[in-house]
Amino acid sequence: MKNNKFEFGDFVIIIDEKDRIKMLQLKEGGRYSCQYGYIDHQDIVGLEDGSVVKTNRQKKLKVFSPTYIDYVMNLKRKAQIVYPKDSAIILMWADIYPGLNVLEAGIGQGALSIAILRALAGEGTLTTYEVREDFIDLAKKTIDDFLHNVDNHNIYCGNIYDGFEGVYDRIILDLPEPWHVIKHCKEGLVSGGIIVSYVPTILQAKSFVDELRISGFFDQIETFEVIKRPWRIEGMSVRPEMWFYNHSAFLIKARKLNF
Ligand SMILES: C[S@@+](CC[C@H](N)C(=O)[O-])C[C@H]1O[C@@H](n2cnc3c(N)ncnc32)[C@H](O)[C@@H]1O
Repeated sequence: MKNNKFEFGDFVIIIDEKDRIKMLQLKEGGRYSCQYGYIDHQDIVGLEDGSVVKTNRQKKLKVFSPTYIDYVMNLKRKAQIVYPKDSAIILMWADIYPGLNVLEAGIGQGALSIAILRALAGEGTLTTYEVREDFIDLAKKTIDDFLHNVDNHNIYCGNIYDGFEGVYDRIILDLPEPWHVIKHCKEGLVSGGIIVSYVPTILQAKSFVDELRISGFFDQIETFEVIKRPWRIEGMSVRPEMWFYNHSAFLIKARKLNF
């Protein structure tokens, strides 16, 4: 069983009386202040995950270790991430499991990379192409802070539209013009392999699907979006939430034929 007592260096989420969430990293000498007072990081160290602490003003705060969703949704956003409702589906539709060699582009903040690396569970590899060095640096830190010492992730700085090295079992794309990658799949994706693309607009989805068909070596093409509809259940108030984020992106999945 995992040690579930907090230590310096751990990320935690702190939830206040109004269910507002703040994520922070426990540091020696650190102090968390909010409208309910403050608590020193030192007073959280040694407590068990899920503990309730009190601020100097005797207000209760709940402290948990962040789940994947907490972590990626509370990152300071520098790039648009794949939302967890979508990354969960990507893992299933791309059928990612330990031992596969997976290619991904681009890295952004590394949110999807973390989900893929977790699904690989240390077996197989994730190779990520990204054009921007600043995103590579940012993502490396984001991934390492959450997963610690991953040794099966290879990151290359380059434009994947120009091609990529190697042959992969799965290719996952979160890029503006993913159709430029399809021609490289002739050599770079195994037959029976799966490609998944994540695009925000339906015009991008159409361009990608058109190119999959033109290539002649993709089949089992599916296009869909994932809508998560939260409900409020409080006493007699039992109804869908009045507002929620609806559209994030379209997902296109296809399978390579042995041509
Ligand atoms: C939306 S972000 C990816 C977010 C990432 N999937 C996540 O969940 O954090 C898109 C990324 O693709 C990169 N990119 C755009 N065009 C590219 C290309 N031709 N080759 C490689 N990376 C590219 C961008 O620099 C950016 O980092």
